Amino acid sequence: MTPRPTTTHPLTSSAVPGVPLTAATPHDATVRMPDGFLWGAATAAYQIEGAAHVDGRTDSIWDAFARVPGAVVDGDDGEVACDHYHRYADDVALMAGLGLGTYRFSTSWSRVRPDGGPVNPKGIDFYSRLVDELLDHEILPWVTLYHWDLPQALEEHGGWTNRDTAYRFAEYAADVHDALGDRVGVWTTLNEPWCSSFLSYTAGAHAPGRRSREAGLSAAHHLMLGHGLATAELRRRAPSANLGITLNLTVTDPVDPADERDRDAARRIDAQFNRVFLDPILRGAYPADLLTDLAEVGLDGVIDDVVHDGDLAVISTPIDTLGVNYYHGEAVSYQTPDRELHGSAPVSRPTSSPYPAADGVQVHPRPLPVTAQDWEVQPEGLARLLVRVHEEYTAERGIALYVTENGAAYDDVVAEDGSVDDQDRLAFVDLHLRAIHDAITAGVDVRGYFAWSLLDNYEWAWGYSKRFGVVRVDYETQERTVKASGKWYADVARDGVIPPLPDASLAALNPPSDTQE
Ligand code: FCB
Repeated sequence: MTPRPTTTHPLTSSAVPGVPLTAATPHDATVRMPDGFLWGAATAAYQIEGAAHVDGRTDSIWDAFARVPGAVVDGDDGEVACDHYHRYADDVALMAGLGLGTYRFSTSWSRVRPDGGPVNPKGIDFYSRLVDELLDHEILPWVTLYHWDLPQALEEHGGWTNRDTAYRFAEYAADVHDALGDRVGVWTTLNEPWCSSFLSYTAGAHAPGRRSREAGLSAAHHLMLGHGLATAELRRRAPSANLGITLNLTVTDPVDPADERDRDAARRIDAQFNRVFLDPILRGAYPADLLTDLAEVGLDGVIDDVVHDGDLAVISTPIDTLGVNYYHGEAVSYQTPDRELHGSAPVSRPTSSPYPAADGVQVHPRPLPVTAQDWEVQPEGLARLLVRVHEEYTAERGIALYVTENGAAYDDVVAEDGSVDDQDRLAFVDLHLRAIHDAITAGVDVRGYFAWSLLDNYEWAWGYSKRFGVVRVDYETQERTVKASGKWYADVARDGVIPPLPDASLAALNPPSDTQE
């Protein structure tokens, strides 16, 4: 990549000397994305569907987790959510109004195969109708098979720590393909396996809320195996389908790049967040340094137990597309920071570190704006991440990249006329699109962008307290209102052009957090 100017606008500042934290393309430039660039929005079944016990659907781990005292803010659950199960036709019309070329949604395993048992015709029929509705509106259906909602009955048999769950997942993938494969050509096996393993089985912050390093590692490997088995099965059925997986990836910088300990901290987080999935999927092996770190804390036995001969060949079954979800990066060190970021849901149930072998590594806040979840706004990181993934993993394998999620929670203000002028979210998306443009200019094969999210929805352990939508949902009335960011996004999607970002919109991002009183 060509070096970026270090001063482009007021957000440029860094705890990492020499690293600008914003994208290269100035915010007041007009940017044209390549022809054919795909514009979409993303959601997930449990976050929007509601109808959690309708037409045969039974509990997923999230239904059960939401009932655990103190696990989710306000004890919120997905029983009703955005009632998308009943309002899907109106929601598709809304997407068409926004000019979306594609819609990324997930199928609920608990709806398709309640309790992990036989196929539920009413459950699968919902997705069939949704796909028809999308196609009628010329919106490409982009199906994700697993966005964290394992049937609770399978969790009671060990969940993802049970190797058998990987085989059950491949069967479920085949069932969904039986029903939708004649109309759906793009398949994502898993969304963000880091979250459904380490955040869920080691940190205990997500369902099923277990807090064990062994369980997280075992879950991660079995998720990888399920991905590989499902990919092979889908490839056998549909050789020309577009198959892939979505990973949440981060950019980790040492607080002091001259300090070997800080560099070690960054290496560990990179290994335990990014490479623990990138390497088995794309190189057919777990990273050597990760295995060493795990052995040092006595976790090599877990790896020996769960990784069977032949697994890595299955896991590295070729894919066509890698989905990248990016929200922010982080600066890390073994030193204690002066203050902490509070980026996790404020719940009363205790949680642990998600990292099995990074004791003592600490995240340091940088002089960056933050969202309503105290997540730093770091668009430059997305450009660096895409370049890195392209150069180290995907280019030589001919794998296309899509940014399958990116977006931000802000405390939206509803005006008297019901409108929402979310210039902060608009600026957030704008700056990240500029970062993608930087990556494309540097030669990275990025083919599309999905705003997270189409609708305000159930933000997992944060419940309904945080809103990510480019469309507002009034949870009392289920009324949908397109926010300013949604109107702007519709224009961008229609023209393929990002217009200059007004200074006032840029200023709507929070001031750098270290200058906040
Ligand atoms: C991602 C999830 C998505 C949503 C966003 C904010 O990690 O995939 O469901 O919660 O974060």
